[in-house]
Amino acid sequence: MDSQTQMKQIVADAAIKEVKSDMILGLGSGSTAALMIKSLADEIRSGKLQNIRGVATSFQSEVLALELDIPIIDLGSVSRIDLAIDGADEVDPGFQLIKGGGACHVREKLVAAKANQLLIVVDETKLVQNLNLSFPLPVEVLPNAWKHVHDTIAEMNGTSNLRMATKKAGPVVTDQGNLILDVFFNGGIKNPKDIEMCINNIPGVLENGLFVDLADRVLVGKIENNNPVVYSPTKVS
Ligand code: 5RP
Repeated sequence: MDSQTQMKQIVADAAIKEVKSDMILGLGSGSTAALMIKSLADEIRSGKLQNIRGVATSFQSEVLALELDIPIIDLGSVSRIDLAIDGADEVDPGFQLIKGGGACHVREKLVAAKANQLLIVVDETKLVQNLNLSFPLPVEVLPNAWKHVHDTIAEMNGTSNLRMATKKAGPVVTDQGNLILDVFFNGGIKNPKDIEMCINNIPGVLENGLFVDLADRVLVGKIENNNPVVYSPTKVS
């Protein structure tokens, strides 16, 4: 196992220690969340956790959970989620996040908004001082609005690229049937709350990957003396 996977595995396992029987859990997306879902399935299989129901944040997490016999309930049928566990692409010292590297941020944000607690699990490569200097901000757009959104973001001094698929000609199509613009702002994002609102105000935008004031806790995996360890940084306000 490479060192990044070791860091992801140790935070995934640590996150599952926060889960209690009878919880409704938000199941995040991405490679770290997938390890967390596998670790959850092990605990359910061993009988340590009982009566867990999951709310999936993507087709990926739904299929994985069902393959592992984790009961899934629909987002629309729950009024509250006890705990959501998800990965992130960037985490700043105030726990503001960029998500959507897997193009799942629309449902991820809905689940996060419904969760009593959002626990973020990352390896330490995801920690940044300033958002959007090295990872683009994903913006989900209606297919026939992408050029309009692209041009409007350019007026805001942002550079956006339509995310292209691999093993398919043309763009990435999201679980909702939309497209993704990956956006960089010159100098990064210093005011995530304003940028989140401004982008979501552009007609044709469904949601962007800025998660502002949503994360309650962050677990970070790192390698120390050749061993993977977990720590929980204190939020800087
Ligand atoms: C998907 C996400 C993921 O949580 C994010 O991309 C992190 O993924 P990984 O754990 O594979 O690094 O937001 O939309």
